[in-house]
Amino acid sequence: PVLEPFVDKLPRLKAIHIHNRKQLTLGAYKITQKLHRDLPPTPLYAFGTSRDTASYPGPTLEARRGVESYVRFENHIHDRQHMLRVDKTLMWANPQTSSDYNNDSGGGVPIVPHLHGGEVESSSDGYPDAWFTATGGGGEALHGPAYRTQNYTYANSQPATMLWYHDHSLGIVRLNVISGLFGAYIIREDEDEDTSSSSKAELEKNRSSRTSSSWMLPKEEEELMLLLHDMQFFPDGSINFPTIGDSPKMHPSWCPEYFGDTILVNGKAWPYVRVQPRMYRLRVVNAANARFFQLSLSDERLSFVQIGTDGGLLDRPQVLSELTIAPAERIDFLIDFALLGRGAHEILLLNSGPAPFPSGDPAFSPPRTKNVMKFFVVKDSPQQRQNPELERARIPAQLRGGETEDEEDSSAMVKTVPIESFLQEANWRTNFMVEFDDKDDSPTHSLLSNHSWSDPVTEKPVLGATEVWEFINFTPDAHPMHIHLVQFRFLNQQSFNQSLSQTTMGMGMGMEVGEEGKSCSFHLPFPDPRSCFTEEPRGPAANQVGWKDTIVSWPGNVTRLLLQWTSRDGDGSGSGQFFPFDATAGPGYVWHCHILDHEDNEMMRPIAIQPRP
Ligand code: C2O
Ligand code: CU
Repeated sequence: PVLEPFVDKLPRLKAIHIHNRKQLTLGAYKITQKLHRDLPPTPLYAFGTSRDTASYPGPTLEARRGVESYVRFENHIHDRQHMLRVDKTLMWANPQTSSDYNNDSGGGVPIVPHLHGGEVESSSDGYPDAWFTATGGGGEALHGPAYRTQNYTYANSQPATMLWYHDHSLGIVRLNVISGLFGAYIIREDEDEDTSSSSKAELEKNRSSRTSSSWMLPKEEEELMLLLHDMQFFPDGSINFPTIGDSPKMHPSWCPEYFGDTILVNGKAWPYVRVQPRMYRLRVVNAANARFFQLSLSDERLSFVQIGTDGGLLDRPQVLSELTIAPAERIDFLIDFALLGRGAHEILLLNSGPAPFPSGDPAFSPPRTKNVMKFFVVKDSPQQRQNPELERARIPAQLRGGETEDEEDSSAMVKTVPIESFLQEANWRTNFMVEFDDKDDSPTHSLLSNHSWSDPVTEKPVLGATEVWEFINFTPDAHPMHIHLVQFRFLNQQSFNQSLSQTTMGMGMGMEVGEEGKSCSFHLPFPDPRSCFTEEPRGPAANQVGWKDTIVSWPGNVTRLLLQWTSRDGDGSGSGQFFPFDATAGPGYVWHCHILDHEDNEMMRPIAIQPRP
């Protein structure tokens, strides 16, 4: 169906406050929802406090820093079969392999929710094998081998930021997320929180950790959450997801990347929103399975003032005309619509991201995917009008980090400590990505360092350790790599000779990564490993600074991250205490590519955190 853009209003997502120490019950339900004026209701799986209130995206959960919250997740999806085609040749959350499987309970659609970017205890982290099905019909719920509980605890000890929750079931994440099982999760602290309801003690506690000026970020009406997604539909409104794979002999229905031709924001195709000629705060999540968005605005008088990334506020705001956002990343930014002057204006939020990223195939980016949404800037009345100069002057040059420069901020570390000292002090982990193709050159799967999901754990970091992670990307695509539990810093990126890498790819399984990680950071069957680099390491670009939990690993590059297996303390310095829970307990954590089709097909590995000796 050809859907007209900008006819539906941008939905404001319902917010549920979870800082009241009461348990919230959030169920997964099968629903139908109108995603466009001219599209029949779409069958979806979605989260909500009841079947009637369940929605795609789910409600926004609002937590407060330092206040634990409790969410009980329930599965009320009674479909015996997934509404989208499961590829049973992948490793997947197969209820029929459950040890508590019996013939009465049958199949069902497994789910296991994960809080993306959260510092969360393992048993509440949504380990891919910790899935569970619905109960009812005389049957019992079935559980994956790593299942511990459906009552999740979120510490909310990390700095204020926007996270998001989504399904994480093994081998069917791409199906469960495209079906609607995700929502936003916000941790607030007093910088951007109405604190009137918080206790005095909490206020004091927050105040002591507060570092930014008294400037208030735009909030309430002037704060917009934008959850980006792409989908394709059948005329009856149902989701068009491939049922025949690229390499069907090996994987009957798995395709390497899902790209839809319809861009959705908060569950509406190409919506519009009316805004006042004022400064707005926009908080974007890329919830797409595989699409990277490259966002820009149709009027060059406006720019993005980026103030935050995945893990919280930047130290300093930065003005950008384009923002690239890979699957699972978040960007927090300001747009000052007052700059347009008097009168009414229409501003488009545009996308120029190639799909797949970065090489692109025009078939996956039809012209309609260039639009995201529209802002109608309403004519201001003289009384309403605020002085735009004044407004802009209010954005502090320093968003956090305070006036003192003596902090042990790891970004400061990156700037001042020569990389050689990391070579000695940090523990280096080198991993590489390789894509495997069938004889018709269709991708069959990609692996992380030639390991599959079920291979023994190789990532066993010691609690508190400082590590440099390297991703060597031998594939033609960029992979948004995500590590659970911690936020990290982008260190640098270095390109290597592609043609040498092609030779290496041909050698496939013959590759090995040696202990020499420390010299050239990777040891491969090159004549001289160093000869493969074509440049000096490049430090972070403007869009790579700040706290990250997902980073784009570019093809033909080594991408390096700096991380610490600790909780971040008040000023986000990373030098602080350990987590307020035992991160070495429970089923563990994972790291993976966040192109969900890759994650479902072996681009995911376990992490087992070790106690300190
Ligand atoms: Cu957004 Cu492991 O997930
Ligand atoms: Cu990938």
